[in-house]
Amino acid sequence: MNAALDWLTKHHEDIVRGLAELVAIPSISTDGEHDHEIGRTAQLTCDQMRDAGLVNVETLKVGNSLPYAYGEWLEAGPSKPTVFLYAHHDVQPVNFVEQWKSDPWKLTRRDGRLFGRGGADDKAAISAFLGAIAAYRKTENTLPVNVKMVVEGEEEIGSKNLLTFFEKYKQKIQSDAIVVLDTENIEVGLPCITYSLRGIVAVLVEVTTATIPVHSGMAGGVLPDAALALNKVLAKLYWDNGPIPVPGLYDSVRKLTDKERAAFGKLPWSDDKFRKEVGVLPGARFANEAGTTMYETTWRKPAVTVIAQEASSIKGASNQVLPKASAIVSCRLVPDQDPATVVKQLQDYLQADAPWGVQVKVTQHGAGCNWWMTDPNGPAFEAAMGALRQGFDRDPVAIGCGGSIGFVGPLAQLFGGAPALLLGIEDPASNAHAPNESLHEGDFKKLMNSLVRLFDNLGKLPGGKVK
Ligand code: BES
Ligand code: MN
Repeated sequence: MNAALDWLTKHHEDIVRGLAELVAIPSISTDGEHDHEIGRTAQLTCDQMRDAGLVNVETLKVGNSLPYAYGEWLEAGPSKPTVFLYAHHDVQPVNFVEQWKSDPWKLTRRDGRLFGRGGADDKAAISAFLGAIAAYRKTENTLPVNVKMVVEGEEEIGSKNLLTFFEKYKQKIQSDAIVVLDTENIEVGLPCITYSLRGIVAVLVEVTTATIPVHSGMAGGVLPDAALALNKVLAKLYWDNGPIPVPGLYDSVRKLTDKERAAFGKLPWSDDKFRKEVGVLPGARFANEAGTTMYETTWRKPAVTVIAQEASSIKGASNQVLPKASAIVSCRLVPDQDPATVVKQLQDYLQADAPWGVQVKVTQHGAGCNWWMTDPNGPAFEAAMGALRQGFDRDPVAIGCGGSIGFVGPLAQLFGGAPALLLGIEDPASNAHAPNESLHEGDFKKLMNSLVRLFDNLGKLPGGKVK
């Protein structure tokens, strides 16, 4: 293992160059206009997999999906665990281009960080896995565990084919443990293992008052205003600093245990730092329920967010009473909420008592995904905790995540209850999805060092037993 660790140090610049090659390709999945580029990052990921020493490397598809890159190395043999490695090679678009301080498609080193779209989310994960794999393959020519690596090309658009992909290639990808690099460390230098994820479900709220727009000089004051009615409906969600007023929403929310509350209480937190990170303006208060900490709010409480609203554009505005207005309300879900029940609760609440008796239709929008939570104990988690402790020279912590990664639960289940290790790759300054996305280079090195140790620890588990 020491030779592998040395290799990482000596070849760091090569690893960064590999990441720069990935970042240079704008593999944006959200606009449907970059399928060619996504094909290229799939190919490049395959090339990099081969260079790192993986075999049986190929791109795979299921139905009309964007391409997955697949590679494996199984020569550790049946007495060693097989570890499934997940990353994604598609990225978010570059909105607010003028806010970028350097070219988003040119990985740029600045202030100890590497800037570029996908530089953290999630191309860094490809580089980190392959760095750790190459470190072994180029020195000891072997790996302490079997690995199967899948790099998805449509994570940023909801992974809509991933479960079908897993079903189709069930035999091929069957593994004992899962490692996902797509969550964050809550502070630079602090290694974090994520043991809960929120789910997500969205509803479309459509308000209709008439069949046509009508001149407001003629009908203003008489016709019910669709835009105003919609906003009155949406305003029913306003929670001030209390709970969200949707009846029943909290009925099945799992309570924090005393142990969790104590552990969350010990995590580093600064309101001021957070205010800066999220760019909230002076004078604007946070909206969390009084007496509920930020971590509990974002990790273990449901949240509703109006993510879109349409009536008439400001550019196209004219003096008309609008007949139709719509919005998307997205809801983050937590253990033990049921997505279908939440949709029903939102429907019942938002459709009731419509202003002026107008038509309010609330329907589910998109597929959504379930929350996930695991018990971060057992051999695999101990192997990961030990690896991170040494790799970062700091005690790791178990955290929650307010975001969603829909496949973790179903995949762990498909593998017969395999432990899923979600190790942090981003940090609060990473700006995933936003301008100036970046990776902390020091933590990137520590993460690869930890992965080398994780493979070693997993390879040493008695009987190859990860749980
Ligand atoms: N990497 C994120 C998940 C995440 C969010 C981790 C926040 C840490 C903090 C992931 O790529 C993502 O953005 N997921 C989407 C899922 C959606 C498309 C179903 C999300 O959470 O919105
Ligand atoms: Mn993402």
